[in-house]
Amino acid sequence: MPVAMITGASKGLGRALAAALAQRGWDLVLDARTAIALEETAKELAAGGARVAAVPGDVTDAAHRGALVAAAGEFGGLDLLVSNASALGAEPLVRLDALSLEGLRQALETNVVAALGLVQGTLPLLRASAAGAVVMVSSDAAAEPYETWGGYGASKAALDQLAAVLGVEEPGLRVWAVDPGDMQTDLYAAAVPEDEDPRPRPESVVPAFLRLLDRRPASGRYAAPALTETPETVVEL
Ligand SMILES: NC(=O)c1ccc[n+]([C@@H]2O[C@H](COP(=O)([O-])OP(=O)(O)OC[C@H]3O[C@@H](n4cnc5c(N)ncnc54)[C@H](OP(=O)(O)O)[C@@H]3O)[C@@H](O)[C@H]2O)c1
Repeated sequence: MPVAMITGASKGLGRALAAALAQRGWDLVLDARTAIALEETAKELAAGGARVAAVPGDVTDAAHRGALVAAAGEFGGLDLLVSNASALGAEPLVRLDALSLEGLRQALETNVVAALGLVQGTLPLLRASAAGAVVMVSSDAAAEPYETWGGYGASKAALDQLAAVLGVEEPGLRVWAVDPGDMQTDLYAAAVPEDEDPRPRPESVVPAFLRLLDRRPASGRYAAPALTETPETVVEL
């Protein structure tokens, strides 16, 4: 069975993607900081027959990242790394003139440094896979100058560039940065608590990720809505 590692998999997009992959027969290595929520997710997914290793911890912790890689090794390898866990840097988001430098550091540490750390730890396994792939979960805040989204957006822009260069350096892999679009999740609520407009559920975005896995387009940056709106082709941004 193919093996996927998904960070931030106890809720939101990470959990929805993990559930879809479990249904397709993937084995899963999952993480999140809150052990009890992660265990509940893992139990639910394992009930459908998937092998699930739930490894609680913080992606910014190198020892935890090592434990995730070891869990994949115990499953026999790794075919897909999804770097999904993310920090906003300020909750709620604030303008740059009020963003604490510590908050920005935290966003960079979680969204960029930890993502590269996981790539470095998993590359030997991914290179050994017949169809190794990396998904970096990005945001349109990486590309658009939305007020108050500057620190988080800068970290996602850095993540996009890591993904782009990794795609060039690792031609044997697929490396996709994916902008999932707005979703109704705890992260969005923490970012903009006063915005109560309804937003798509994370489950609605999952088919776009599955399409990437099925069609394996060239490494690059993709927006989830475009992936599902174009039935025969995938449009790279
Ligand atoms: N929601 C949106 O509108 C939106 C839009 C564009 C992009 N995105 C991106 O989509 C991805 C998923 O976000 P989401 O909205 O699904 O968020 P979410 O529902 O809040 O879920 C975030 C997950 O990440 C885990 N997590 C957070 N920090 C972590 C850390 N340092 N180490 C390990 N796990 C950590 C959380 O669990 P714990 O808190 O227990 O650790 C949780 O499982 C993120 O990369 C986000 O930037 C979201």
